[in-house]
Amino acid sequence: MGRTPIVLGIETSCDETAAAVVARTADGQGSILSSVVRSQWEQHRPYGGVVPEIAARAHVECLDEIIASALSEAGIGFDDLSGVAATAGPGLIGGLLVGLTAAKAIALVHGLPLIAVNHLEAHALTAGLTEGLKPPYVLLLVSGGHTQLLLIEDVGQYVRLGTTIDDALGEAFDKTAKLLGLPQPGGPSVEKAARSGRADRFALPRPMLGRAEPHFSFAGLKTAVRHAAQAAAPLDDQAIADLCASFEQAVVATVVDRTRTALRIARNRAAVDVLVVAGGVAANQRLRAGLSDLASREGVRLSIPPIALCTDNAAMVAWAGAEHLARHDTSALDFAARARWPLDADATPVIGSGRLGTKA
Ligand code: KG4
Ligand code: ZN
Repeated sequence: MGRTPIVLGIETSCDETAAAVVARTADGQGSILSSVVRSQWEQHRPYGGVVPEIAARAHVECLDEIIASALSEAGIGFDDLSGVAATAGPGLIGGLLVGLTAAKAIALVHGLPLIAVNHLEAHALTAGLTEGLKPPYVLLLVSGGHTQLLLIEDVGQYVRLGTTIDDALGEAFDKTAKLLGLPQPGGPSVEKAARSGRADRFALPRPMLGRAEPHFSFAGLKTAVRHAAQAAAPLDDQAIADLCASFEQAVVATVVDRTRTALRIARNRAAVDVLVVAGGVAANQRLRAGLSDLASREGVRLSIPPIALCTDNAAMVAWAGAEHLARHDTSALDFAARARWPLDADATPVIGSGRLGTKA
């Protein structure tokens, strides 16, 4: 009897430096032995966004220490590992190179298999780690960098149902916060302000509502918020709260509509009965309520992993690595990092049409 495979995961694709250790039993049950995440946000804050050069340098400075913490918290050494996985894309190339190169060095020195992991796949498979969920299911990924609807048919088999033609949803929250003078990251501040706001005060567009393909667009909504803010200037706290609530309501209506379309398309292809949500925006309560409603109306179960595993982390990377390792699907040591790496290579690129849907 072989021992339970244990995989070290490394995540450096954006502004979180993370390492984690995950075990996977032969029957596919996962457990997290450790998960260490260090955010670089304070280093980027003065610039109002992630600066790639600062991100890469910050990863270099602390990755060794983060890996050492992950191993020590798991109570193991390199010799106990069965493989090492690192995010190889998509993401900021400088950061990806740092994590992937570290993983290659560990693999080489300790004679371990390397698994180059797609960051989107790591998000997509997280529900397998947290609740043993098996495909098929639909994933709504809503983060600062990505907004996608995917049909997870199997490990390694993904169909992209929809994507954004411009901004990611988290980015739309962040830009809205910036416009209204609220602190970054914008999602939590917009949500907080919206709590005391009236969602029916400003009529904002619901981009892409009713379109046959479940794509997203948020640039027009952002512009509409700007125009509404200019028209209502000077903005008092109530006006800011009302704008945030109106923005959130428009977002939720759009995301629910797009997700409903994706679920229906997916169910024509596979026996889908679960909707999984991941990415930092999954923390938003109004969005959760809207999706929970949708799920019960569509007769599917809503699954949202714990928020620390919805946002960027290395446990999801280690888990995706463990899933591939179990299938003897490992990577060559010359695997190159990829800034762009679509999960569904067959997906046709989406070109913005400029039409932004109906007015509320
Ligand atoms: O997945 P994530 O932590 O990181 C990356 O995208 O890499 O997502 C961060 C995004 C940010 O845009 C942030 O504003 C948004 O998630 N976010 C939220 C909330 N919490 C975080 N958006 C809306 N409501 C929230 N409560
Ligand atoms: Zn992510």
